[in-house]
Amino acid sequence: MTDRTPLMAGNWKMNCNHVEAAGLVQKLDWTLKDGHYDASKSECALIVPFTDIRTVQTLVEGDKIPMAYGAQDVSLYASGAYTGEISADMLAKLKCAYVVVGHSERRDYHGETDEIINAKAKVVLAAGMIPIVCCGEKLDIRKAGEQVPFVLAQVDICLAGLTAEQVASLVIAYEPVWAIGTGEVATPEDAQEVCGAIRERVAATFGAEAADKVRIQYGGSVKANNIVDIMAKPDVDGALVGGASLNADEFAKIVMFYAV
Ligand code: PGA
Repeated sequence: MTDRTPLMAGNWKMNCNHVEAAGLVQKLDWTLKDGHYDASKSECALIVPFTDIRTVQTLVEGDKIPMAYGAQDVSLYASGAYTGEISADMLAKLKCAYVVVGHSERRDYHGETDEIINAKAKVVLAAGMIPIVCCGEKLDIRKAGEQVPFVLAQVDICLAGLTAEQVASLVIAYEPVWAIGTGEVATPEDAQEVCGAIRERVAATFGAEAADKVRIQYGGSVKANNIVDIMAKPDVDGALVGGASLNADEFAKIVMFYAV
């Protein structure tokens, strides 16, 4: 079995201007160094607003900070008359490693469908970056006990037309919508149920090697005090962290979950 390096990604959402971003990156760097962070045990990534990316890049490169960074969304289009959009090539030029596609907030507030998310994942891959493809059910689906088929249907469309190698290289974030920003965390068993089912579906569609390599994150009210139990589950390869990633001490503990 492949040793999948867990990916602990902080999704800042629409928080921190570029000045605040510099402070948060530096504080996180010091805190991780103090804790003897070992990048071979978990990968740390910051998913920041577009206006923060250049600042984060300058700090990470200048100070050789062991962190990846990326964007929260991308345009479907390569260039041209798309006012307000940011292209994948623009993000690649800033050396973004990751781009989140299909976050539930994009689905809810910007009408993004599984088909759009599939197209965005392809655009990100074509530009040489790694998509973090988000999926997850709302409360009514969970209450009906339909979370596994619902999420697998999302995954089928979001990954349609990709090669096995592309799927092996990307990240899937399972985020039950009812657990995002609510303090209502899924149990480790809930997370494993869906993450395990996603891996099985990847195996059935793209083969055993892709399933073995693809990283599957859990997201939704992850905190320092619940990450260890979630990460103990075999099919959970990291976390997509919202609120808790805005606090350097809290996020450093999540990144260094292995040291607890
Ligand atoms: P949360 O957000 O950790 O604040 O629940 C998670 C996310 O939206 O990725």
